[in-house]
Amino acid sequence: RWNADKVIAIDGPAGSGKSSISKAVARRLGYGYLDTGAAYRALAWHVLERGADTADESAVLAAADDFPLRQGLDADDRRVFVGDAEVTDAIRDPRVSAAVSGVARVLDVRARVNDAFRRMVAEAAFPAVVVEGRDITTVVAPDAPVRILLTASPEVRAARRAGELSEQDVAAVADAIRRRDGADSAVVDFLTAAEGVEVVDSSDLDFDQTIDAVLAVIDRRASDV
Ligand code: DC
Repeated sequence: RWNADKVIAIDGPAGSGKSSISKAVARRLGYGYLDTGAAYRALAWHVLERGADTADESAVLAAADDFPLRQGLDADDRRVFVGDAEVTDAIRDPRVSAAVSGVARVLDVRARVNDAFRRMVAEAAFPAVVVEGRDITTVVAPDAPVRILLTASPEVRAARRAGELSEQDVAAVADAIRRRDGADSAVVDFLTAAEGVEVVDSSDLDFDQTIDAVLAVIDRRASDV
């Protein structure tokens, strides 16, 4: 049965440090970790692999109905499979990044994917799961006891992403992030905090300070329940 009490919800834009911070927090607390962006990426990969057009909503929906995603909740095992194909690296390909917003735009697709996320949390062997994405605080688990929006300035996000990708051209990365933020925020608003959502701005924090800030929110919120 679905129960949002097990969810630590963390939303934020690309380059906010969301994934690495969520993973580190999950490890620290012995919780599960669910990267919902990876599921959308795997679906985009699956649509491309089928040779379907990501702009064709019915083709995308058909792909979502036949989508054998395998994704664990262990923060130390980030492998993602679609059927027997391991797509862990492929879903980070720029080709997939460019296609994913189109796939994530289809509302019937989101409904199916969200059901799968809730099922994974409900069945998880962990006491709680850090669920990271764009609409976890607002749509997937709006009644989670801990809801955090992790942000950073556009400049800081672009610099971090460029570092991750070993990309020299920060301006090009900034441009790609801006484009994807624009496309993504047409579907869900992840740039402003919904009521009751705590903002952690990591622009001036290093990695460990950001973890501590998130842990402090979890401590405070968990003791409120
Ligand atoms: O966090 P990420 O960059 O791996 O996310 C990949 C894409 O998936 C991103 O373009 C937005 C989309 N996404 C979404 O629409 N809803 C979520 N809960 C998570 C990701």
